[in-house]
Amino acid sequence: IPVDPFDLVVFGGTGDLARRKILPALYRRFCAGQIPDEANIIGAARSEFDDAGYRAFVRDTILEFAPVTLCEDGAIDTFCDRVRYIKLDARGDEGWEALARIIHADRVRAFYFSVGPQLFADLAERLHRHGMASGETRIVVEKPFGHDLASARELNTMLARHFDETQIYRIDHYLGKETVQNLMAIRFANMLFEPLWNSQYVDHIQITVAESMGVAGREEFYDRAGAMRDMMQNHMMQLLCLIAMEPPAKFEPDAVRDEKLKVIRALDTVVLDDIVRGQYEAGEDKPGYLDDVGNSESTTESFVALKTGIGNWRWAGTPFYLRTGKRLRARTSEIAVVFKDAPHSIFGADAGRHANILTIVLQPNEGIELGVTIKEPGPGGMRLIDVPLDMSFAETLGPGAELVPDAYERLIMDVIRGNQTLFMRGDEVEAAWRWTDPIIAQWEEKGERPLPYESGSTGPEDALALMHRDGRRWREIR
Ligand code: BG6
Repeated sequence: IPVDPFDLVVFGGTGDLARRKILPALYRRFCAGQIPDEANIIGAARSEFDDAGYRAFVRDTILEFAPVTLCEDGAIDTFCDRVRYIKLDARGDEGWEALARIIHADRVRAFYFSVGPQLFADLAERLHRHGMASGETRIVVEKPFGHDLASARELNTMLARHFDETQIYRIDHYLGKETVQNLMAIRFANMLFEPLWNSQYVDHIQITVAESMGVAGREEFYDRAGAMRDMMQNHMMQLLCLIAMEPPAKFEPDAVRDEKLKVIRALDTVVLDDIVRGQYEAGEDKPGYLDDVGNSESTTESFVALKTGIGNWRWAGTPFYLRTGKRLRARTSEIAVVFKDAPHSIFGADAGRHANILTIVLQPNEGIELGVTIKEPGPGGMRLIDVPLDMSFAETLGPGAELVPDAYERLIMDVIRGNQTLFMRGDEVEAAWRWTDPIIAQWEEKGERPLPYESGSTGPEDALALMHRDGRRWREIR
């Protein structure tokens, strides 16, 4: 179903995010028939382009980043006809009058700040000055939303000068991933899991976001951020919130975000003993982190594993183990809910430990897997084995499932539709920093270097020990 006609301006329209994510996502929605003929997509940046030049740029971008099956010349041309370009200076006057002239006063207008946060204030102020900050205006801002609590607060205050909270869409693209949304469907549309979803039945929860790539291409940004700020404060935190939150009364923006906020506020403060920081070394013919960032002194972590808990009735006593890192063995992202053993084994001590594990797989093959214990087939007596009840989306949902929409498709369309459910609210982001800042402060005070780990491994040995000492173990990164 097409959305209503809209104007979408992408500030930073020639940048990396626009190329890799925003423009391909818009194109995919266009191919799905969701973008009406009257829609205006406007790239704005400092580069010297006219409309024709930018259309050629968009065309190349789509050929490079959109799925091959969607790349028909006719479709790309028709899409490009909707695209325009304004050369604009975020900190000066150039381009703003021209932009204001082509923006429609009577439609939804969305302004995507696909630029560094240092330009947010300039953009917001100029939108206001040139009459483009009315009630129908929505602004989209990307992470990193600040570097710590103080800077996040500053950004929130500054945006609030010109925009109401209902107009601000803070993106965490993990919330737009199909499986992440499915996590809410699993929890709140089935009777099976929710009665068991608490510390009485759940032994622990582990969340892994492992990446095989390094930091090449984003060295400068990453070396200032590190895994804690780049992944833990936002993506991992959001996954944890959705797993742990109470059922919201409705699937509506503030109902969902109120519940997430309560989780963040109830998180235990993490002590240094429960954190492992790592930095990758050379391996598999690839350079180490220090060479990648060209800074032999860097103490930035490319890996972090930690244990935390949630101080509320549902979760008291259930540990949450979180780990994320770059240049690990494989690109694997999953959330595993590990249930407790049955209280008594009628099959005797030899039957071993057989915990049910519900795994929500985000990568590489989105899907859901439930580990159940059954009798090993055959006449050999009562021997137990664990087998997965496997629901890989590609297999279960049939042809076309490999075209699972990219997170950005869903999120950009939600901006146009005016649905903030999958976007972070200002207080939520601040609460996440309030939890993150003391962790970083502790290790900065101690001044230890992160532990080295070999590229292509599963991270520092100490990360394994973090769970072993509790009699548990990480699931494999495969
Ligand atoms: C980004 C981080 O937000 O998420 C990157 O800045 C990371 O460092 C990326 O690689 C991971 O996203 P995805 O969707 O590939 O898991």
